[in-house]
Amino acid sequence: MLPQLFHTSLGRLIGVGLLTASLATVTACGKPADTDASKAKQEATASGDSASDIPESATKYTPEDLEKSAPMAQQAGPESGVDYHSFANTNDYLIKHVDLDLTADFDNKVLKGEAILDIQRLTQKNPALILDTRDLDITNVRAGVGNSLQDVKFSLGKTDPNLGTPLKINLPKGANRVAIQYQTSPGASGVQWLEPQQTAGKKHPFLFTQAQAIHARSFIPLQDSPKVRVTYKATIRTPEELLAVMSANNDPETEKDGVYEFEMPQPIPSYLIALAIGNLEFKPMGERTGVYAEPELLDAAAAEFEDTEDMLEVTEKNYGPYRWDRYDLLILPPSFPFGGMENPRLSFITPTVIAGDKSLVALIAHELAHSWSGNLITNASWRDLWLNEGFTTYLTNRIMQFVYGDERYQMEMALGYDDLKADLDDREDKDEIMAIDLRGRDPDEVFSNIPYEKGSLFLYELEQKIGRENFDQFLMDYFNHFAFQSITTEDFVKYLDQTLLKQYPDKLDRARIQQWIFEPGIPEGAPQPSSDAFTKLDPIRQQWLNGEIKASDIDTEGWTFHQWKYFLDSMPEKLSEDQLAELDSTFDLTQSKNNEIAFSWLMIAVRNQYKPAEPRLEDFLVTIGRNKFLRPLYRNMMVHGQSDSAKRIFEKAKPGYHPLTVKVNSKIIYGD
Ligand code: BES
Ligand code: ZN
Repeated sequence: MLPQLFHTSLGRLIGVGLLTASLATVTACGKPADTDASKAKQEATASGDSASDIPESATKYTPEDLEKSAPMAQQAGPESGVDYHSFANTNDYLIKHVDLDLTADFDNKVLKGEAILDIQRLTQKNPALILDTRDLDITNVRAGVGNSLQDVKFSLGKTDPNLGTPLKINLPKGANRVAIQYQTSPGASGVQWLEPQQTAGKKHPFLFTQAQAIHARSFIPLQDSPKVRVTYKATIRTPEELLAVMSANNDPETEKDGVYEFEMPQPIPSYLIALAIGNLEFKPMGERTGVYAEPELLDAAAAEFEDTEDMLEVTEKNYGPYRWDRYDLLILPPSFPFGGMENPRLSFITPTVIAGDKSLVALIAHELAHSWSGNLITNASWRDLWLNEGFTTYLTNRIMQFVYGDERYQMEMALGYDDLKADLDDREDKDEIMAIDLRGRDPDEVFSNIPYEKGSLFLYELEQKIGRENFDQFLMDYFNHFAFQSITTEDFVKYLDQTLLKQYPDKLDRARIQQWIFEPGIPEGAPQPSSDAFTKLDPIRQQWLNGEIKASDIDTEGWTFHQWKYFLDSMPEKLSEDQLAELDSTFDLTQSKNNEIAFSWLMIAVRNQYKPAEPRLEDFLVTIGRNKFLRPLYRNMMVHGQSDSAKRIFEKAKPGYHPLTVKVNSKIIYGD
């Protein structure tokens, strides 16, 4: 825990929060629930205007205008169910279906075409429809009933740096469909256009989208809030030799012809709409599982991830049916900013986890687990992210145990716990709260292990208290109960009240649950996962540090990746030049082929200014775009006297980085 070092301007935070909120809360079943605050906000917007009676001047409203007319800024915490990261007036309208027709223009780096939105009207009035956009060039909007659409007036509001730009559309009375013609910007925050040079094959360009958390709006105008669920269809037009895949019904047999049709029949939140285009081929791994990758990586990926089908089966057996038909993986180029992304039916995966020994496949278990926690039950706002990531991290560990046994399980758990402790050491109290207050903040900037590992530890404590079988039953029931819904933290707590707290009043206690979810730190007496395979390394490391044994005396034969990671991550802050050189020459760490090991070693090297690792560090930073690695490395370089080289390497790598990677790391490097 960090002391509260600075006080953000509360007024500003609340102001932005209120303004940027969507205008109602939605209950677990998707029905809007008006609250005083949301009502006031409704009145503060153009709600109630009909298409014809909005004066032209009034269409250029700004968030500040809204603030002026909504002076009831609450001083309390964020309101449950309010999405402070969407402009959409989801109390007036809900988008139910999206129909896309987009052409990928690789020369100009734009997606161009039309999005047709089917909308459900929730009020008798005829307010303007407000959608989320970011850097979209909107050329025409039509609206109407069914297929009879007419041109309508639209306007863009003021751009907010975190949220993008609201698009306000004047709807004819009774309209239930809107067709928007638009194109994306080459710098769209949710799209990366790659040059052939950045791919494995080096011959064809590549495109991929990454919508979570609030980037779908940079490639589709829509209600970009996780509480809104849509089905979608898409026609994607590409250069003929490339294949398009989406978070939808990919057909492994598709011929490459440059026109691809998709359908996602289950309702999903906008952040799960995903597209990739490249020189992709398919290889099956099991009956329902397979890999899409560039041909250069296909066999290695299929071998590395061959246990995916088993993972799918054990998860179904323990937590209920997999409801999404196929489960495939898409291997992206190394600039992908995450390890993985749970796009339904098709998880997007970094190639940096293809280690050759399945040591990093917990990532696959994690993205697969999201098919239950996250995709089936979705966080209603980004404050509730722990419902997605905490449950998923808990399930990941369990899947790893089912498939690879107890020792692997213990090690994965222990590493997660160490990550959590490290995060708690350098975060402010307010950011250690699972149901985090994100008002006025960019979710990309606040990314941490807290929702993952604290969320998972909380569930592990529940499991320990009521017994594993009972807890598994609870999870299975939970997934059924809320299937295909977006829920808030409070919905979950209410569900706990009605289930476990009633069933096990002598074992569970509501006050402690509140503490886990709404207070910083880890409650006293929480479980502390550890692994014998790790603790037995502690005396060995200590003997070496004391100079009692040489590195070459350590019997590392049979060490797992996890043990290596533990051994390195728990080295003291400072090592001498001789110690570094000895470790490196004995274990060849600078040249490690395992990216996680290389990362752990480079963290040590940077904080000790170990020069022989510098070329590898530069290569690592330039060729890998995964922020889990880049952010800590750049941050460490900045605080350990290597800011010049951080800047130089960042500038060199920048053209190949994803827009998100550029944004979050330039903040670290230039502080803007
Ligand atoms: N859904 C996340 C990635 C994400 C979270 C993107 C929040 C944007 C905002 C994904 O499932 C994830 O957690 N990826 C991790 C995997 C790891 C914890 C095994 C990653 O990329 O490192
Ligand atoms: Zn996740």
